[in-house]
Amino acid sequence: MKVNNLTVIHGPNLNLLGKREPQYYGSASLEEINKLLSNEASNANVSIEFFQSNSESDIVSKIQELKSDFIIINPAAFTHSSVSIRDALSAMKIPFIEVHLSNVFARETFRKESFFSDLAVGVISGLGPEGYIAALNYAANVK
Ligand code: DQA
Repeated sequence: MKVNNLTVIHGPNLNLLGKREPQYYGSASLEEINKLLSNEASNANVSIEFFQSNSESDIVSKIQELKSDFIIINPAAFTHSSVSIRDALSAMKIPFIEVHLSNVFARETFRKESFFSDLAVGVISGLGPEGYIAALNYAANVK
């Protein structure tokens, strides 16, 4: 399967990147991360769109509308709570990679639980913005 259209979904509080707990999330803003991804996507000849929301229902509605053939999602805090976002991804059957900037396994116990990982093609956690780039390159090279 050749991936032509990729959607990157950023969950709640990721709009605060750059200012938010840099010891976990680094100093890059969301805009900077999206710019890196846009450059990488254009090198890989993949079209890319970005969506960020602090609202669970907006993320569910967005997933239901998607026409893209691959998703990179950082569900942020919804990772550990959202059956509805999980169900939307499951219903749409669009392959996805789950990305976390921080290493969720090295933090509080509740962050080790994800409602997404068993459905994901793969999970990347702890590599900062590089994790999104790795996910994009994986998607761009899927055969
Ligand atoms: C996060 C990890 C989550 O536990 C947290 O709620 C976030 C960001 C990450 O990118 O490391 O908001 O998904």
